[in-house]
Amino acid sequence: MKSRIHILPESLCNKIAAGEVVERPSSVVKELVENAIDAGAGDILVELEAGGRKLIRVSDNGSGMNRQDAFLSLERHATSKISSDEDLFALHTLGFRGEALASIASVSRFRLCTSASADGLGYEIYAEGGNIKKTTEVGLPRGTSVEVRNLFFNLPARRKFLRKEQTELSHAADVVTKQALAHPEISFRLQHNGRILLELRRESGLPERVAALLGKSMLRDMLPLDQDGGDLRLHGLISQPVLNRSAAAHIYTFVNGRYIRDRVVQHAVMESYRQLLMKGRYPVMVLFLELDPAQVDVNVHPTKHEVRFRDQRLVHDFIVASIRDRLRGSQWLELADGQGRAETAQLPQPLAEGSSSVAMVREAPSAYHQSATSDHPAVISGQQAFSPQPPAVPEPLSEQLSLEQSSTDSAGFFARLQLLGQYHQSYLLCQDGDDLLLIDQHAAHERIGFEKLRKAYLAGSVERQQLLFPEILELDFRSADALQQQ
Ligand SMILES: Nc1ncnc2c1ncn2[C@@H]1O[C@H](COP(=O)(O)OP(=O)(O)OP(=O)(O)O)[C@@H](O)[C@H]1O
Ligand SMILES: [Mg+2]
Repeated sequence: MKSRIHILPESLCNKIAAGEVVERPSSVVKELVENAIDAGAGDILVELEAGGRKLIRVSDNGSGMNRQDAFLSLERHATSKISSDEDLFALHTLGFRGEALASIASVSRFRLCTSASADGLGYEIYAEGGNIKKTTEVGLPRGTSVEVRNLFFNLPARRKFLRKEQTELSHAADVVTKQALAHPEISFRLQHNGRILLELRRESGLPERVAALLGKSMLRDMLPLDQDGGDLRLHGLISQPVLNRSAAAHIYTFVNGRYIRDRVVQHAVMESYRQLLMKGRYPVMVLFLELDPAQVDVNVHPTKHEVRFRDQRLVHDFIVASIRDRLRGSQWLELADGQGRAETAQLPQPLAEGSSSVAMVREAPSAYHQSATSDHPAVISGQQAFSPQPPAVPEPLSEQLSLEQSSTDSAGFFARLQLLGQYHQSYLLCQDGDDLLLIDQHAAHERIGFEKLRKAYLAGSVERQQLLFPEILELDFRSADALQQQ
């Protein structure tokens, strides 16, 4: 009887593998940049058109490939990076599965140009949907360039799921950002529709790269960390609590040079900042954990975004201890422990009008003021640039409150509070029946300002005043690009 089971054709296997590895243009960028890094490139150029939907080209000046390797590189399970079982547990390269190029080629119009020789002899291979259509000998400097056009042209269902140009671009830029943070010694250029979005020269170290990529102002509020724990090493830059964000997007964590999103690491990071940040706020950091490759399994998912540690607890506790030690060294933990300033109460709703019972209060102390202004460097300074100078003398809170016309139904709640006093020049102690309420005065002040501004913005009447001297804003390249698109 004829067997019902058969081995799938290679081209179909590649497409299936591509389903996991290639989710969107940024996945292609990730794989190609990783290959360039593994090839020892010193300069990497990433070119995109239409957010990568039309074109993704990654060029490097790495080792390149000879003719035979160039052909082999498009085969599935073909790699120069591992050759035995043991190698899988002693990885020193980003790639090892030997399937990225084959997968990408199977779902695109793919061109590989590569040369391994200094004499300028190279090879070009053109493939469509994984089928090689043309090969030529070409003159090329040493290095490799991979061009991926019309991603998912043969998988319409996948193509349909691609997002707007700007969204895909932002994902791709994010990938380049992560790679660039992990490799300050490599120069990176990111170009979109012929426009240079990012140009990073080779740097001597992480701080220089962070300054160039995320902004000098961010670097100013970060602390260098380097903790050697024998089998484990943690190094990088971590934010002082004054520098924090409303999302975890600025927590860049790497394990053995590979960007990863790991639950254990993420938890350890947040645990380290517990008591130091308000709820819903996240630190900023570029953190590298180095450990024996045998202690961590990278082969968890084809995208290699996840890892499994052999001893999760050890890794977790080491990260917490290292970060807390560093913050303690900079007195942040002392501040939090000693003065109780760290856990600031959150203001649940916009403040309501008519709180006339609230008397004159003073502004929060300077430590808080600093914390708030450096909290959102881009946004706050942007608002300041458009609004009149803030009053030198703090307004009575009663006045501020009465300005507020909340659209939510919280009207009356704050108005009925009885003000008992002020604690530590930072908190308002209020009584609501039998309840005692602590209001973070500074957060309240910010919220009122925010609500005022939002209302004015919605009404199209934000007050503007031209500055006598232009304010220089430092934005990372993605924010700058988003601004330019407006
Ligand atoms: N930019 C490059 N420069 C030099 N060699 C390259 C380059 N890109 C790919 N190669 C070669 O082609 C091989 C196949 O690349 P591919 O990305 O498919 O697999 P891999 O990197 O070995 O593993 P993975 O699938 O995990 O990425 C690599 O092992 C490497 O030898
Ligand atoms: Mg690879």
